[in-house]
Amino acid sequence: MLRKFCVLKLLNRKTLDSFYELRRKAMRERTRYLYQKGQEESPVNVGDQIFMTVINLTMNMLWGGSVKAEEMESVGIKFKGIISETIRLLGVANVSDFFPLLARFDLQGLVKKMHVCAREVDAILDRAIEQMQELRSEDGNDGECKDFLQHLMKLKEQEPDSEVPVTLNHVKAVLVDMVVGGTDTTTSTIEFAMAELIRNPELMKRAQQELDDVVGKDNIVEESHITKLPYVVAIMKETLRLYPTVPLLVPHLPTETSVVGGYTIPKNTKTFINVWSIQRDPQVWDNPTEFRPERFLDNKSCDFTGTDYRFLPFGSGRRICVGVALAERVVLYTLATLLHSFDWNIPEGQVLDLEKKFGIALKLKTPLIALPVPRLYNSNLYL
Ligand code: HEM
Repeated sequence: MLRKFCVLKLLNRKTLDSFYELRRKAMRERTRYLYQKGQEESPVNVGDQIFMTVINLTMNMLWGGSVKAEEMESVGIKFKGIISETIRLLGVANVSDFFPLLARFDLQGLVKKMHVCAREVDAILDRAIEQMQELRSEDGNDGECKDFLQHLMKLKEQEPDSEVPVTLNHVKAVLVDMVVGGTDTTTSTIEFAMAELIRNPELMKRAQQELDDVVGKDNIVEESHITKLPYVVAIMKETLRLYPTVPLLVPHLPTETSVVGGYTIPKNTKTFINVWSIQRDPQVWDNPTEFRPERFLDNKSCDFTGTDYRFLPFGSGRRICVGVALAERVVLYTLATLLHSFDWNIPEGQVLDLEKKFGIALKLKTPLIALPVPRLYNSNLYL
């Protein structure tokens, strides 16, 4: 029910459009900050910058209409640590999964550590909900939902008597799923794309040329431009082909015994789909390890719907990622803005290293450090 609500009410085109201003605000703040760094000739950790953009932009949408602006920055910083620890813990092989009798001993202390994360997140969410309620009693409730939290609380209030009542914990769970599922994945995708483009300057030039033609150097990128940027879209696809940020998807558990490709998968078998390997299979991809966005320009069958089994970075079927539409907007809008507003140089003495770190989420092993060099005609465009 919650999945349906998220897809129908929160992550549909109309609601996402209505929150564009909140995403735009976070993007403009980051561009201004990067411009300043560029002027000071001070290189930045690209992944950290992308993460801060994505987390601010996500939080603005989730509870930006409710939480006081001055608290948003500190909440973003707190979340950074909690999210990476949660994702790390999710990816650790847990002895209790293989020997359930040992589960109560929590031999690796994973449950204990996860409880620490959960308590910290809970405190942040309690504070957000408290502020939302204060704001409502100050301003009165005009019925208009200014963020996802307000939508979810409305659902909770409207459906107390339904068969599955929505509780405060449900509301919190949806918000946590969105923060945990949506920020690191999106950040790593943009970071891998930037690393590949810095390594392949001719591809970066091609993307910038497209942006200059469509947006112009006397203008800034808006989300409405992204449908007119086929090359930037191809970069996103090629990045997710070579670096699917959830390389084995989320574990699936068939409810019935089934036969897939001649193999019998017994009921309740924890099953991993190796998207990493499928998307690098030389039998279906030419020169699979080469980063070549052009391969997607004429390939219309490979989109993000998971219907072409050669390419399924968001999964497929009924448990496909719920955030595809949001991820598309955030990745393309951020990537287009970073490429259009700046040239990116690797400072002397730094090396570009694309080695990867595997876990439940795929990440760059060595942080990408680069100098943003402003490239627009007018400095006012960075204000
Ligand atoms: C580039 C960005 C993203 C990638 C690569 C990605 C990838 C995935 C994958 C592979 C799955 C599992 C699908 C399966 O096992 O079949 C998933 C599930 C999920 N994703 Fe994403 N995701 C991204 C962005 C987002 C965003 C922005 C949100 C937040 C709205 C989000 C929320 C979720 C949720 C809630 C699930 C669980 C859905 C369910 O179990 O029914 N994801 N994602």
